[in-house]
Amino acid sequence: MYKIALDGPSGSGKSVMARAVSKQLNILYVDTGALYRAIGLYMFRNEIDVSDSEKVISNLKNINLELAQSEEGQVVLLNGENVNKDIRLPEISMYASKVSAIPKVREFLLDIQRNTAKKNNVIMDGRDIGTVIFPDAEVKIFLFASDEIRAQRRYKELIEKGIETTYEEVLSDMLKRDENDRNRAVAPAVPADDAVMLDSSYLNIDQTISEIIRIIREKINL
Ligand code: DC
Repeated sequence: MYKIALDGPSGSGKSVMARAVSKQLNILYVDTGALYRAIGLYMFRNEIDVSDSEKVISNLKNINLELAQSEEGQVVLLNGENVNKDIRLPEISMYASKVSAIPKVREFLLDIQRNTAKKNNVIMDGRDIGTVIFPDAEVKIFLFASDEIRAQRRYKELIEKGIETTYEEVLSDMLKRDENDRNRAVAPAVPADDAVMLDSSYLNIDQTISEIIRIIREKINL
C-alpha cells in the first residue's frame, strides 16, 4: 500500500490533479477539505458561531461523518445526508477554514482520514497530509501557484457552476482564507520538509498531471 500526499493552498489545482492521477493509477482519491467543509456546513445550518471554539467543540458529538465512493467519486455523508453540493457554496469556505483551526476538530477528523489508507493505495489532497496525517507518505507534493492565477481559476470554476461572484471578491476571500490556514497554531498549511514543491502557475492541467506522475514514479515503483 502507498500513500500520496498532495497539499497546497486553495485554487492550486489539487482536486483536479488528484482526481486525474487517481484515475490514471487506479487508486483511491480522498478530498480532505470536504470533511472540514461538512463540519463548517453543519455549523452554518445550525447558526453556530464558528469563532466560539467551545460551542463548535460541544457540537461535534452531534456530527457523524462518512466518506463513501460513487461513480462520480467521493461522497460526504453528514449524518447520513449527501452534502457534496452544499459544501461547495462559497460561504461555506470560510466556515471550513475557521473550524479547521480548532485542534479538537482536527482530532475529530484524524481517524476517518487515516482509515481510508488502510485498505487502499490513496492520493489524498489537503493542507496537512504530508505533515500530520501521513508523515510517512511515500510521496509528498506541495502544489502552488501565484495568487492571481489561483483566484482566476477559482472564479472561473464558480461562474461555471452558476454561482454569482466577482474576481475581486474571490481573490480577497482566498487571501483571507490562506492567511487563516497558514497562520493557525495547529497543523498550519505549510509544506512538509521533504515535500517536492511544484509550481503550477504556468503549467496547463495535462502538464501538471504529467509532472505529478513523474514525481510519483521517481519515488515508487508503479
Ligand atoms: O481544500 P478546501 O478549500 O476544500 O478546504 C477547505 C478548508 O479546510 C481550508 O480553508 C482549510 C481546511 N483544510 C485543512 O485545514 N486541512 C486539510 N487537510 C484540508 C482542508
